[in-house]
Amino acid sequence: MNILVTGGAGYIGSHTVLELLLAGHHAVVVDNLSNASEEALRRVGELAGVEHIPFYRVDLRDRAGLERVFAENAPFDCCIHFAGLKAVGESVMKPWEYYENNLGGTLTLLDMMRRNGCKSVIFSSSATVYGDPATIPITEDCPKGQCTNPYGWTKSMLEQIMSDLYTADVKAGAEKPWNVVLLRYFNPIGAHPSGRIGEDPNGIPNNLMPYITQVAVGKLDHLNVFGNDYDTPDGTGIRDYIHVVDLARGHVKALAAVERNCGLAVYNLGTGQGYSVLDVVKAFEQANGLKLPYEIKPRRAGDVAKMYSSPEKAKRELGWEAEYGIAEMCRDAWNWQKNNPNGYEG
Ligand code: NAD
Ligand code: UD1
Repeated sequence: MNILVTGGAGYIGSHTVLELLLAGHHAVVVDNLSNASEEALRRVGELAGVEHIPFYRVDLRDRAGLERVFAENAPFDCCIHFAGLKAVGESVMKPWEYYENNLGGTLTLLDMMRRNGCKSVIFSSSATVYGDPATIPITEDCPKGQCTNPYGWTKSMLEQIMSDLYTADVKAGAEKPWNVVLLRYFNPIGAHPSGRIGEDPNGIPNNLMPYITQVAVGKLDHLNVFGNDYDTPDGTGIRDYIHVVDLARGHVKALAAVERNCGLAVYNLGTGQGYSVLDVVKAFEQANGLKLPYEIKPRRAGDVAKMYSSPEKAKRELGWEAEYGIAEMCRDAWNWQKNNPNGYEG
């Protein structure tokens, strides 16, 4: 299939472009490089044995730029839409920028898509749309909850916008209604096992695994564990970590849903296994033979105690399930960090 990948130079996008190419698809990447490097795509090409990946340094809010992408590459069979700002804390400080970029960019993209006859989109949503879930494991029919930050609201709102496009088409009896696949990611970590592509956060990481690897590589002194008084076996927060390569493969599988005109479909992408912060620390130490210094700190605002997915629907309907476990996630995260202590720079 001919796939438009927005945000394809980023962390999850670059791993997905690789899996798309390995599966025999054609990918055209659009990214404004606000949080990514073109070097990631060069390495993806190297890993896939593809000399040139069509790339446009274009902002999704730039209608003329997008027009050029469509004029030169349409028809697209599907768009996998990763592009957006994703730092939770920053979104609290800069809500306007988050709404403008994430909503504005997506609205322009969706408009260009429908004008160019591509009405299939796979969207990067997040488990954050569930808020503080009433029951776990979380299934897709669990009601959406109150997000604790503007970033989360952009995901929730964009899910609604895309769902409404589909519903309107169905009501109007459209011959070719939208196909909308909403993928709710749990906690993506790790890197490609080659150590050539991985997560390259700007500044001090907010998320657990990149923080851990930067402690291990000596850039940061110790890990702060946010709270050990949650209602969990060791008191620290529990999450469903998923290897980024498994996550990337979930997108390739989701293309099959698009091909069979799934209409509106929502899938959790997680492993179904919950690990506490201290479990992850232990797993990282064991997988890599390292000692990781940490200190217990107060809870972080907006965190929930426990979240993990039911991945059953994706298994049943997409034939997808995560293959890597926590040991491989820790091994590959460290392999990437130690081989690229400064990320893609140098
Ligand atoms: P990332 O920042 O590495 O990738 C996002 C990419 O989008 C970047 O390359 C950035 O340069 C690009 N971008 C941002 N705004 C753009 C715009 N207006 N026009 C063009 N390009 C733009 O993040 P990621 O971790 O790879 O996440 C990919 C998607 O998955 C995001 O939508 C994110 O919100 C979502 N998501 C991520 C996580 C996670 O833990 N990483 C969890 C749930 C959902
Ligand atoms: C967060 C976001 C989520 C987003 C995801 C990826 C919130 C409420 N959720 O998920 O919307 O999709 O990041 O960007 O912000 N932890 C520490 N020390 C650290 C960092 C984290 O103890 O230095 C703990 C946290 O308290 C949590 C767990 O590790 O229990 C995972 O945290 P993190 O990696 O930031 O992901 P989430 O908070 O689950």
